[in-house]
Amino acid sequence: MNVAAGKIIAGALAPHPPHLVYAENPPQNEPTAECGWEPIRWAYYEMQKSFKKKDYDVIVVLSPHWQTYIGTHVLAVPEFKSLSVDPVFPNLFRYHYDLKVDVDLAKQICDEGKEAGLEMQLMQNPDFRVDYGTIISCHMANPDWDKPILSISSNRSTHYYSPDYMQGISIPLGEVTRKAIEKSGKRCLLLASNSLSHRHFTKEPPIPEDMSYEHIYNHNQYLWDMRIIDMMRKGQSQEILDIMPDFVEQSVSEADSGAFTWLLSALERPTYPAKIYGYGTVIGTGNVVAEWDCDTKGAEQ
Ligand SMILES: [Fe+2]
Repeated sequence: MNVAAGKIIAGALAPHPPHLVYAENPPQNEPTAECGWEPIRWAYYEMQKSFKKKDYDVIVVLSPHWQTYIGTHVLAVPEFKSLSVDPVFPNLFRYHYDLKVDVDLAKQICDEGKEAGLEMQLMQNPDFRVDYGTIISCHMANPDWDKPILSISSNRSTHYYSPDYMQGISIPLGEVTRKAIEKSGKRCLLLASNSLSHRHFTKEPPIPEDMSYEHIYNHNQYLWDMRIIDMMRKGQSQEILDIMPDFVEQSVSEADSGAFTWLLSALERPTYPAKIYGYGTVIGTGNVVAEWDCDTKGAEQ
């Protein structure tokens, strides 16, 4: 490692229910809400404060909603500006985004992945529509959008094969992401853009933000979420990776995307505690907002 080595300064679970941005009413989003999902949004406010104190160059996010079937793709166009509409919730999320991408880092991660034998590709189509998972996680982590981002796709290996196969790709992807960042000389914040348990309601209430309808969907899934969060608090990352396939299958977790595995791997399977900012449900899905601070290693808690 050279003197100007880059580093991952923190990693976070930063779930992307569109309802959160809807309830925030930012100027970029067309629909407006009265309120809603405060426990998770307030958790994000606390995480934003933590990020604001840090000195970093770029946000790197792996999103379950940029789904690729041949290998892993990396955003590699300097700027994207367009309208993102959630296909399931167009009534909640029609967001005008205008973002910058760190193309140099994209190329470095892509090259590092290829060198390690991973199937990797740069996404260089200027008309590409950036997925809403990337946009929502980045917005909730940094609503000022004053840092460039880098988005990594979710290879759909869980669906084609199995969660074990997904981990076989996502663990080395995390390792090459870390190596590329170290070589880049940049300080990076990593976001895994996924919920925990992900079975959800199939009917929307008349007023989406009517919180009298919001509740945990299923006790078994809730227990899974609590178990995972407890392990995060105890720094049991290796153990989380060990049970990830069961967690994915039994809680229909959005960790099927590989985002959570990628994050734990990139952070070198932290044995220190994650800072848990909050947990809450969105249409019954389980969402934790949590950070692993690579400098303090949880010492300030
Ligand atoms: Fe999602």
